Amino acid sequence: MRITDTSDLWWKTAVVYCLDVETFMDWNDDGVGDFEGLAHRMDYLNELGITCLWLMPFYPSPGRDDGYDVSEYYGIDERLGNFGDFVEMIRMARDRGIRVIIDLVVNHTSDEHPWFVQSRSSRDNPYRDYYVWRDTPPRGKQDVVFPDVEDSVWELDETTGQYYLHHFYSFQPDLNVTNPKVRDEVAKIMGFWLELGVSGFRVDAVPFLIDPTGVEHAEGALEDPLDFLKSLRAFLGRRSGDAIMLGEANLPHREQVRYFGGRDADGLTMQFDFIAMQNLYLSLARGDARPLTKALRGRPRIAVEAQWANFVRNHDELTLDKLSDEERQEVFAAFGPEPQQQVYGRGIVRRLPGMLGGDPRRIRMVYSLMFSLPGTPVLFYGEEIGMGEDTRVHDRTSVRTPMQWTNGPNGGFSNADPGALAAAIPDDGFSPAHVNASEQRHDPDSLLHFMKLLIHRYRASAELGWGELEILRQGSASVLVHTVSGGEGRMLALHNLAGDPVTTSFVLPDSGPDDVLVDLLVDGRTLTPGEGGKLSIPLDGYGYRWFRVLPTGSKRLG
Ligand code: NOJ
Repeated sequence: MRITDTSDLWWKTAVVYCLDVETFMDWNDDGVGDFEGLAHRMDYLNELGITCLWLMPFYPSPGRDDGYDVSEYYGIDERLGNFGDFVEMIRMARDRGIRVIIDLVVNHTSDEHPWFVQSRSSRDNPYRDYYVWRDTPPRGKQDVVFPDVEDSVWELDETTGQYYLHHFYSFQPDLNVTNPKVRDEVAKIMGFWLELGVSGFRVDAVPFLIDPTGVEHAEGALEDPLDFLKSLRAFLGRRSGDAIMLGEANLPHREQVRYFGGRDADGLTMQFDFIAMQNLYLSLARGDARPLTKALRGRPRIAVEAQWANFVRNHDELTLDKLSDEERQEVFAAFGPEPQQQVYGRGIVRRLPGMLGGDPRRIRMVYSLMFSLPGTPVLFYGEEIGMGEDTRVHDRTSVRTPMQWTNGPNGGFSNADPGALAAAIPDDGFSPAHVNASEQRHDPDSLLHFMKLLIHRYRASAELGWGELEILRQGSASVLVHTVSGGEGRMLALHNLAGDPVTTSFVLPDSGPDDVLVDLLVDGRTLTPGEGGKLSIPLDGYGYRWFRVLPTGSKRLG
């Protein structure tokens, strides 16, 4: 059967909002956010207009990598609540049309996970093959993910005299997914959470998850590591009609196509576009739209069921690893010049507003651009109000401060003693006194109102999720003019990445003599293209415009 409705594949037009329960809202005032707090903020999220929540890990964990070191997959960190609270939260989300996806962290476990405790206890333990063991680390350099902290992906375990693989920290031993038992365990974990009502998973560290390093000629090993992803997707399809896998795979575009499962679309449902994100920052640093244009033009065609996830900032460092060394230095110089603002030689530990000097025009332009690109937008909590980072923290966690709800003590996140909070509250120009949700809700000129507008316009423009991108020729290097066209219609967007005003002239292709362009962000006024679709539109410094293109006789609302 053909896809008859644009919401048939809900993720194609979703607005995803990532949060960590631990830092979102503390309802029992112990200093740690909890599921009850999140449930009480469901109306806020609904009002914002998001349609899918992505929850960062909330499983029991020693917390040495902020929960990405799981010690029990069938549990909930007791500081955050219990299963009753979890299910209640899911119900409240669903009641408001919000789906919930959760982080699936199965490249590795914590070294405190009972499987690893068993595995390392002796060479003949039944769980030995749940992990990857070698007598000697294989020759040849293997890149470590956290070069400031680790110098090898192999760690000697004294008890049994062998090395185990850990792509990330040494307390995160990699699971051996060439072992069929481990693959079954992963499927069982997914099946469990699906039964509790989740709509899918943000799959952590996908390239590492399917990397068979260190496992040679293993019995049951998959011919093609991607088959593992595909088997999980097939399992997901059998257990749930609409659950998705949103993969974290920071790879060149052409490799991402394979991860999607190519034309068959039987791999990851969605993937973050790290390439476009990194080139966006290069474009911002230069005030020149061309790096981003090139990245977008280089996006390969993907199957209709697959989708790109667009983002500006996530919970990790702003990685710039896919830029050249010179390009990375340019972005560092523009947005994170201090050594303590940089990590791992590749990333910046700041949120967007700090990097842009708090310039509201520029911040809005960036989000306008992100929402106007074909794909599904993903927000990190606090972006909607322009939260900054904790400048006293010089690692990735600087951007994981508590959500700023009010200008009161602890930013309204908790009534606990400030020393007991899950993370400290920024005390600079981005502190709750300056940036908080409560005040912005009542201020029609606030960033929060602007983000709501973007979200609502995005949701009313299904072509942004489904359509084809075309970047139009025009004369200003600082400007990106693009259309996104699909079955639902066509959008035209203009963005000026530089601070000087500019008038951009271009031809709107396939434009009829009576087409009307309706402004979607400012005042709803209309424009009519000249002969042959000619347009000339002025943009302020860091200006942005969205137009709905309505052909003659269109019944679509402007
Ligand atoms: C990617 C996550 O986003 C990051 O926070 C984490 O440290 C690694 N994967 C390891 O799980």
